[in-house]
Amino acid sequence: MLLTTIDGLSYNTFDVQDQDEFKQISRLISGHLSEPYSIYVYWFFLNTWPQYCYTVKVDGLIIGVIISKVEPHRNVRVRGYIGMLVIDPQYRNRGIASHLVHLTIKNMVQWENVDEIMLETEVINKGALRLYESLGFLRTKRLYRYYLNTHDAYRLILPLTAKATTRIAFLEQLEKLPLV
Ligand SMILES: CC(C)(COP(=O)(O)OP(=O)(O)OC[C@H]1O[C@@H](n2cnc3c(N)ncnc32)[C@H](O)[C@@H]1OP(=O)(O)O)[C@@H](O)C(=O)NCCC(=O)NCCS
Repeated sequence: MLLTTIDGLSYNTFDVQDQDEFKQISRLISGHLSEPYSIYVYWFFLNTWPQYCYTVKVDGLIIGVIISKVEPHRNVRVRGYIGMLVIDPQYRNRGIASHLVHLTIKNMVQWENVDEIMLETEVINKGALRLYESLGFLRTKRLYRYYLNTHDAYRLILPLTAKATTRIAFLEQLEKLPLV
């Protein structure tokens, strides 16, 4: 479904029924992300949170994609997670990734009132670090040999509410467990 048009490019939500879209997305990601994700990882994200998968199309072909999810974190905060973001090399440096991240953040805040948004990226991925840090994401951890290629990762977090900057021990549980 078409969400918006920016600079003549269409930004869309993923259509779960469309096998061809799924193939285009998995091809784009496997061609440009270092981590070899299995088909089950794509399906897990796309089937469970289709509302957080956005594509950018040119003449009907997908040239950019972002895949995300939202879940409770330790049952005290609502955490958005950006799992994958890829732009076809021919279309980079035009602000497309920034638009996709903005769209994701806007909808996560509007629909689920997220407290924070998290992601990981390789420490050597200067482009991704610059993109996310310019949007306010902060480096919170270095994860030693996090990826299969043995590269380290930075974990980045964008804090959005006061809860995001409060220690877990001082936060109330999101849902009270039933008394036994
Ligand atoms: C990282 C990536 C998604 C950026 O996509 P993009 O559409 O070119 O990014 P944008 O045009 O929206 O750039 C936004 C900002 O990021 C920064 N940036 C993006 N690519 C950069 C690069 N290669 N080097 C330095 N800075 C870069 C720029 O500062 C830019 O801000 P500016 O417009 O003020 O200069 C794209 O290069 C890509 O698909 N890379 C391979 C996959 C990947 O690494 N994904 C991220 C994994 S977490």
